[in-house]
Amino acid sequence: MNPTDWSKDGIVARREKYFAASQRAFVPYKVPTVFKRGSMQYLWDETGKRYLDLLGMNVCISVGHAHPKVTAAVEQQLRELPHVTTMFYHPVPAQFAEELAAKMPKGHDWVVHFTNSGAEAIDLALVMAQHATGNIDMIALRNAYHGTTIGAQSLTGIAGFRHHIPLLGGMHHVANPDPYRGAFGDDVDAYVAEVKATIRNSTSGRLAGFIAEPIQGYGGIVEALPGYIKRVAEITRAHGGIVIMDEVQSGFGRTGDHFWAFEGHDVVPEIVVMAKGIGNGFPLGAVVAQRHVAEKMAGKFTFHTYGANPMACAAGRAVLEVIDEEGTQANSAKVGAALKKVFERLHQKHEVVGHVRGHGLMMAIELVKDRKSKTPAPEITADVFEKSRDNGLVLSKSGANRNILRMVPPMCIQESDVALVEEALERSFAGY
Ligand SMILES: Cc1ncc(COP(=O)(O)O)c(C=O)c1O
Repeated sequence: MNPTDWSKDGIVARREKYFAASQRAFVPYKVPTVFKRGSMQYLWDETGKRYLDLLGMNVCISVGHAHPKVTAAVEQQLRELPHVTTMFYHPVPAQFAEELAAKMPKGHDWVVHFTNSGAEAIDLALVMAQHATGNIDMIALRNAYHGTTIGAQSLTGIAGFRHHIPLLGGMHHVANPDPYRGAFGDDVDAYVAEVKATIRNSTSGRLAGFIAEPIQGYGGIVEALPGYIKRVAEITRAHGGIVIMDEVQSGFGRTGDHFWAFEGHDVVPEIVVMAKGIGNGFPLGAVVAQRHVAEKMAGKFTFHTYGANPMACAAGRAVLEVIDEEGTQANSAKVGAALKKVFERLHQKHEVVGHVRGHGLMMAIELVKDRKSKTPAPEITADVFEKSRDNGLVLSKSGANRNILRMVPPMCIQESDVALVEEALERSFAGY
C-alpha cells in the first residue's frame, strides 16, 4: 500500500477528484481541517495542534475519542472474529441486546434490532410502525432531521436534506413546538390543535405513528415544549398509531437529567431509535421496540449484512459499561450546567447572540442580526465558527438557516475545560 499522504493539499485534491458530489457537498469550513488523532475530549490535527471537540464528531463520540475500554473491546473482537452473519449465533450481540433492553423503561417487554446507522434504524422503525398498526400515515415535525435514506429523508422536515425525488407518501409535517421560532410561540394548545387539524384534513384518520426527536439535534437543539409530546402521543394512539422517539443524538445520558430524553416528557414510546454515541465512533444503530410491536414483522426477512456485527456490539457493550462506571450522565449534567453559564454570559455581552438553549451536553447558541426580528445571521455564524476552530474549538454550524452553533461534546468533557471554552468563544465573538 502507498504511504498515507497527510498533506492538506493532497487530501483536498483527491476528494475533489474522487468523491461523488453527494459526499463532497458537506464542507462547513472555508479552510478545511484534517484530524489525525483523538483522545477523550481532544483532537489533534495533522500539524499537532490540539482542539477541544465540542461536537463529538457529530455526537458519535459519547465516552471519548479512542476510549481505552472501547478500543480494547473492539480490538479483542477484531482479532478473534470480525464478523458473524446473523444466521449464526454469537454471544456478544445477544448480551448487548439484553444490556440495552435493561436501559429502557421498566415494566415493558423490549426487543432489539441492530442496524449499521441511524437512518437505517429510522427506516426500520417506520416499516415496523406501519406493519404493527396496518396504517400508513405518519406525523413528523418540521425542522426534524432523521437521516438521508428514503424513509428517513421523507420524515425529515428540512428542505436542504430532501431531494427532488418522489419521497414517501403519507408523511405529514406539523408545526414545530419551538418556543423561540415556532409558529405559535410557546402555546402548546395551539401546536396540539395543529396536529389534530393535520390528522383531520391530511390523513385518512388512521395513523401509523408519530415520530420526533425529543430534542432536535441538527435542527439546532430545539427542545419540544413541555407537555407536547405526551399529548401528541395520546392523540396518535387514539388514531391507531404508535410513538417513535428518535434518540440518535439525545440518548445515553447526554441530557444529564435522564438516560433517554423522552423520559423528561413522561411518555413511554413503542419504538426508540438510537445510533451515533451507542458505538462511540463504531458504525452501529438500533431499533429498540416493545415486543408486541416488533413481533408483527416476524413474517419476512429483515436482514442487514452488518446488523449485529460482533465488533460493533462489543463497542456498544463497552460504551454502556463506561457510561455506568464513569458516571458520564452525572458529568453531563455538571459540566453542561457550567457551560450554560458561559453561554448565558455571552448572551449578555454580545447582541448577536439571540438565544441560548439546551441542557446537559446538548446546547446551542443561535445568532441573529437583530434580537427583536430574530433575523438569522448565517454570515456572522460562519465567521465565529471559523474563528472558534482557529481558537482551538470544534463546533457545528447547524439549523436550516445555518445560524446556530451546536455543542454536543464527548460526555467525558471536564469542568476544567470550561474556562478554555469561555476564553476561545470570547475571542471568537470579539467585535460582535
Ligand atoms: C436525530 C437523528 N436521527 C437520525 C440520524 C441519522 O443517522 P445516520 O447519519 O447514522 O444515518 C441522525 C444523524 O445525524 C440524527 O441526528
